[in-house]
Amino acid sequence: MSMRMIIQGAKPLYGEISVSGMKNAALPILFATILVKDVCVLDNIPNVSDISTTLDLLSQMGAKITRSARNTVLIDTTHIEEGTSPDELVRRLRGSSYLLGAELGRFGRSRIAWPGGCDFGGTRPLDLHLKGFRALGAKTDTEGGFISAEAENGLVGGSVYFDIASVGATVNVILASVLAEGTTVIDNAAREPHIVDLANFLNACGADIVGAGTSVIKIHGVTALKGCSYTIIPDMIEAGTYMAAVAATGGCVRVRSVIPKHVESITTKLCEMGVQVTEEDDSVLVQSNRPLNNVNIQTLCYPGFPTDMHPQFAVLLCIANGIGSIHEGVWSNRFRYAEELTKMGAKIMVDSQNATVVGVEKLTGATVEATDLRAGAALVIAGLCAEGTTEIRGVRYIQRGYDSIVEKLRGIGAEIEEKYIDEETTESIPKAN
Ligand code: EPU
Repeated sequence: MSMRMIIQGAKPLYGEISVSGMKNAALPILFATILVKDVCVLDNIPNVSDISTTLDLLSQMGAKITRSARNTVLIDTTHIEEGTSPDELVRRLRGSSYLLGAELGRFGRSRIAWPGGCDFGGTRPLDLHLKGFRALGAKTDTEGGFISAEAENGLVGGSVYFDIASVGATVNVILASVLAEGTTVIDNAAREPHIVDLANFLNACGADIVGAGTSVIKIHGVTALKGCSYTIIPDMIEAGTYMAAVAATGGCVRVRSVIPKHVESITTKLCEMGVQVTEEDDSVLVQSNRPLNNVNIQTLCYPGFPTDMHPQFAVLLCIANGIGSIHEGVWSNRFRYAEELTKMGAKIMVDSQNATVVGVEKLTGATVEATDLRAGAALVIAGLCAEGTTEIRGVRYIQRGYDSIVEKLRGIGAEIEEKYIDEETTESIPKAN
């Protein structure tokens, strides 16, 4: 049985839609609880499969986890045991690389299977993470599909410069250094809002981290952390995805539970395309009357335009006037969605890390396959604005990072449903709500 999304497109969207907590902030914070050895109450945890995999993984390591409400998780890592991470679950997630920093910080060593995650067709190295651990005195090794790091004499603060402002490496060095002796300095650190959220969470537990959100982060080691209650920030990429959906279909939607500052680069590009975006206290109002203007997009680290919004904006360029372009500046290959959009009538030429997109009058529904999370989000937007019926396969990728996407989009007037298909009989069974 596999899940499909079926969309009847070309319908403008109206109303209000709410954004969930940010997956890429919740992931490091969940792994950070390993350092706490106490009870943490985490609110605004999104209901997405990457998070349920993480909760399963932590629970198999001995964490006591209870859900007190749909989005609230109580997690007690007092009795977690070192070296017990289940390989199969680790291999499903990129975020499981955070086990390295967290276990190193708590136990002085870690050995995990090579983490998985979305495959962009290129490599997703961890060399900067390991460089960071070595700066704290750990020895590292990558052999036989496993990664290990060990600090025989304990971790001691050090300085590390990252050649690339890597989100994952910044998270991992913060995790490893919070309980280390002395001060750690990360230079050219990632500045993403989820780094700030992780630092705020750890500081609420008693850590001493300064500079998160800038490119120099200093971590003064403390001897122990205590539990706290913490609310995860809203997901700027989920917000941006719904903003792009409204831009594509036309209509008027208030996207709620947003920190407008976090979506500024997205708002700016939408405005250049002729979409009206009004920032409110904790929401943005998006009004769109197609046609859209073409633009050139370059993805960069925060506060630049996010790579995780690139495929969704490629759809907007497909239906904009004239010719637009995208330069992917973070990942070496993130264009696997282009072939799928071509099946819907798009004209996209990909050359290395660049795409040239020639706007067409309309996209037409087709059967397409999501190849990763944001590619899947792009296909949903394409289906919403295309004429006719779109069937999306590979829905499991979309479920990794979008909480209740079908229900939320239906709430603003989209005709979208999920169906289980029995592969053998190809009979379709509607999903129970
Ligand atoms: N890089 C290295 N060496 C390293 C680490 C990274 O060369 O040791 C390179 C990567 O190859 C890439 C660049 O540095 O070219 C940036 O990678 P980064 O480490 O920042 O990415 P990540 O931590 O693996 C997170 C998000 C991604 C998002 C990127 C960039 C999580 C779990 N994942 O990945 O999110 O695209 O940052 O913002 O936080 C998604 O949510 O769909 C997603 C893929």
